[in-house]
Amino acid sequence: MLSLFIVERLEVLLATSDDAPAIADMSRNLVESGLSWQWKPAAVARQILRKDTEVIVARRNKRIEGFAIMRFREDDAHLLLLAVEPFAQRTGIGRSLLTWLEESARVAGTFFVHLEVRVSEQGARQFYRALGYRERGRVDGYYQQKEAAILMTKDLRIVRQTPTKNVSNL
Ligand SMILES: CC(C)(COP(=O)(O)OP(=O)(O)OC[C@H]1O[C@@H](n2cnc3c(N)ncnc32)[C@H](O)[C@@H]1OP(=O)(O)O)[C@@H](O)C(=O)NCCC(=O)NCCS
Repeated sequence: MLSLFIVERLEVLLATSDDAPAIADMSRNLVESGLSWQWKPAAVARQILRKDTEVIVARRNKRIEGFAIMRFREDDAHLLLLAVEPFAQRTGIGRSLLTWLEESARVAGTFFVHLEVRVSEQGARQFYRALGYRERGRVDGYYQQKEAAILMTKDLRIVRQTPTKNVSNL
């Protein structure tokens, strides 16, 4: 018997206001767990409307599997949020989202991207290192006085950076 598998294509697109509740839920569950929920649907919807901010989603078959939010400033860009649903992690979605935003920054003539990540998120820290981000500092209590942030930066003018070693004392 012939089995037919239809593999839906993953698309990376600009988010619309209708996506705000799903993005907010993912932020609460995947990024803000253990913290009080800041990125509620209204806060996400405001980002979608801002001219200096790009909110993008990775969507397959109408379902959002990942999203990212980046703010563009005069001289640099700031990655505010990025998350991928656990069932879809390690399939390249995070890389696709971040690469999309980095390309957008390059086109805008913005060559430095900054971000903060929870010190306990070893997987995310590895992910950013793999994509060429360097750990350059730590801010204790950054997350609601409950957890430290690791500050990371990428210089987009460098085509290929050697990933930094696991800096466990940060
Ligand atoms: C961090 C996160 C966005 C990565 O997304 P992802 O789609 O799983 O990442 P990718 O599949 O694109 O991974 C690209 C590379 O990063 C590295 N990487 C990703 N996740 C990793 C992990 N958990 N441990 C070690 N390396 C990892 C690997 O080198 C990987 O390449 P490989 O799979 O070929 O080895 C995702 O794990 C996530 O949503 N985590 C929870 C939310 C979060 O912490 N967000 C970041 C702070 S805002």
